Amino acid sequence: MKNISVMISEREVDERINEMAMQINEDYAGKEVHLICILKGSIFFTCELAKRITVPVTIDFMAVSSYGGGTESSGTVKIRKDLDEPIAGKDVIVIEDIIDSGRTLSNLLELLQTRNPKSIRLCTLLDKPSRRVVEVPVDYTGFSIPDKFVVGYGLDFDQNYRNLPYIGVVEL
Ligand code: IMP
Ligand code: MG
Repeated sequence: MKNISVMISEREVDERINEMAMQINEDYAGKEVHLICILKGSIFFTCELAKRITVPVTIDFMAVSSYGGGTESSGTVKIRKDLDEPIAGKDVIVIEDIIDSGRTLSNLLELLQTRNPKSIRLCTLLDKPSRRVVEVPVDYTGFSIPDKFVVGYGLDFDQNYRNLPYIGVVEL
């Protein structure tokens, strides 16, 4: 097991998620929200956020990949697991773990728009703005972080460390 240094503590993450949920509760007062959790990275964040949302919530899951074989995202998003339910007429919030180049979310958003949701917003736990290649309209951001490879709270390094309750940096 490699050494992991804490970038954002469990308490800081939890407090921020509280704030984000309060904002969503305010923005969606009197409505229902349909959360789309992008597997696998967003699963911890989605659960913690959903637990704190007080307007009626439904949740669906999608797994996508925009990385062909290499480390650079490609132009199109590949659906590995599609949603179970239609999103037409729903107020949708797409939940991401991290936005890096922005390619995944930008492609995904384009695809979801064709299914006629009533509205669609983007919510991400982490953002690396310095890495952005494609602009994406992010509505809710937990933390903007520097260009470091982070793990924990759902984020992996080679499928490991997703279960860490904080955001950490793998020390090489
Ligand atoms: P994008 O298309 O470049 O924005 O890719 C975003 C995806 O890359 C995220 O959903 C993550 O799966 C992955 N990713 C980007 N940066 C990190 C990181 O620092 N740690 C773990 N996964 C990352
Ligand atoms: Mg990943």
